[in-house]
Amino acid sequence: MGAARAALRRGFDRAERGLDIAFGPDWNPLAQLGPLGWFLFWIVALTGVYLFIFFDTGVEAAYGSVEWLSTDHWWHAGVARSLHRYASDLMVLVMFTHLVREWAMDRYRGARWFSWFTGVPVIWFVYLSGITGYWLVWDKLAQYVAVTTTELLDTLGLFGEPIARNFASPQMLSDRFFTLMVFLHIAIPLLLLLAMWIHIQRISEPRTRPPRGLAVITLGALVAGSLILPAPLLGQADLAQVPQSIALDWFLLGLYPVIESVPAGVIWAGCVVFTVLLAGLPWLPHRADPPAAEVFLDHCNGCARCVADCPYAAITLEPRSDGAPFRFEVAVDPARCVACGICMGSCPSSTPFRRSGDLITGIDLPQRPLAQLRAEVIDAAEALAGPGRVLTLACGHGAGGAEARGRIVLPCVAMLPPSLIDFILSRGLAEGVCVAGCAERDCQNRVGAAWTKARFGRSRDPYLRARVPRERVLTVWAGPTEPGRLEAEVSAFSARLADMAPYGPVRQIGAEEKQEARAKAIGRSAAE
Ligand code: HEM
Ligand code: SF4
Ligand code: SF4
Repeated sequence: MGAARAALRRGFDRAERGLDIAFGPDWNPLAQLGPLGWFLFWIVALTGVYLFIFFDTGVEAAYGSVEWLSTDHWWHAGVARSLHRYASDLMVLVMFTHLVREWAMDRYRGARWFSWFTGVPVIWFVYLSGITGYWLVWDKLAQYVAVTTTELLDTLGLFGEPIARNFASPQMLSDRFFTLMVFLHIAIPLLLLLAMWIHIQRISEPRTRPPRGLAVITLGALVAGSLILPAPLLGQADLAQVPQSIALDWFLLGLYPVIESVPAGVIWAGCVVFTVLLAGLPWLPHRADPPAAEVFLDHCNGCARCVADCPYAAITLEPRSDGAPFRFEVAVDPARCVACGICMGSCPSSTPFRRSGDLITGIDLPQRPLAQLRAEVIDAAEALAGPGRVLTLACGHGAGGAEARGRIVLPCVAMLPPSLIDFILSRGLAEGVCVAGCAERDCQNRVGAAWTKARFGRSRDPYLRARVPRERVLTVWAGPTEPGRLEAEVSAFSARLADMAPYGPVRQIGAEEKQEARAKAIGRSAAE
């Protein structure tokens, strides 16, 4: 499965690179699927409320009101009806693409299980909202959907009276039953909204609004589609006749022909197996998850930077418990921590310059502590030669994911405390530092790229010190299919560095200091 996922990941990366050219990284629709899903939900909800103003509830009246708004008032209510339908269809497409992409990006298991698991009921609520909506039009398609659905439901034997009987003849269908359908078509979308809200509860600052430009493009395309190809309205339902050929909406009703041709037991079993397998995917055997970040209270002043920077709301601020003269301390919830290390990069105690005592920070990754990272940097620098030496600190999910000479691979580039870059340059470990994050459009750890840029741009603590010469720091944002671009950019950077005058304030790191740094890294891992 790992190979399939990697292939799919590369496929997405290639497609997204194409869309980057058309839309730019910020508006790339494939990187905005979650926010787009929310946006489409609100379009569907608002157009639904608008349509309800003109809709008559009742077996006879419903069709007439939909026909009236689709013809006499096509320019506002008719467009709203088409928008309602097309935005629902697009929501299905966006939802499944989002699902497959999260799987391909390996963002569905370990501590991330919650978003995945809670996404599964969202699928069902989207479908049920759409299906109940089709009934209300009460045209021939509605009749087909109503009859097929109720016949399927009756096979469960849950209802005293078979509900398909309501559609046996025109006399059997009452306004009360129709009112029930209207109620369901309002109640289920409300449940969908609740499920969507639960879905993002384990994400800090979830993106539920697409960038304005992308929202305008999406809405514009939907309005244009609605004007060019208004949602069709078939003839009025007639329960005395079985509808013959019907144009289906393949997004929401694509499985209906299957329902007709396969025994009901197989359909129900298929639904159960699909739901259980999908929901259980995060628990299929996989390599062990890395241990969660660990807090070292002796080095924590409760500044809450890590709380603000954690992408998964895994860190909470708690009252101080150790008698130190600070109001707060922090605690990590291991069930939420994905071990991205972003918190370590944000902690003011993460200062690689420290020589006295052990290099322990306020919050650290047990499997990759700061002391070890500093020792790795020193070792990697020793492998570099020639003028224009570049040390690359790369995100494992981007173009620099593979180990290479002079490269250190990290779970996220925001794991880097900016002072580590200052350390590398001011200790003469390299003439330049390349920070190679994953593709700019969407960071594997949601906010790693944004926080790194803000720290370097000195708009978010901890800042990259002003004294660090920016011409000696290269940032490359590139996905897993772009190692060639990363290498080319690093080579060009190295050539520029070779032509520069030596960096002034370098204090070469001595053999003794190197030895000390290595010993501290070993001491730190032995202490774990
Ligand atoms: C229309 C339905 C859906 C909407 C509107 C939606 C929306 C969202 C949003 C807004 C986020 C947060 C994005 C961010 O801020 O980084 C998110 C994350 C996520 N979604 Fe969905 N989602 C939907 C359906 C699903 C489904 C069906 C699944 C899978 C079963 C799923 C799996 C995930 C996962 C795993 C994440 C977490 C990604 C991470 O850990 O960074 N979603 N979704
Ligand atoms: S490593 Fe830190 S920032 Fe990343 S999820 Fe865990 S607690 Fe949050
Ligand atoms: S960033 Fe460091 S010092 Fe600040 S609260 Fe977190 S662990 Fe404590």
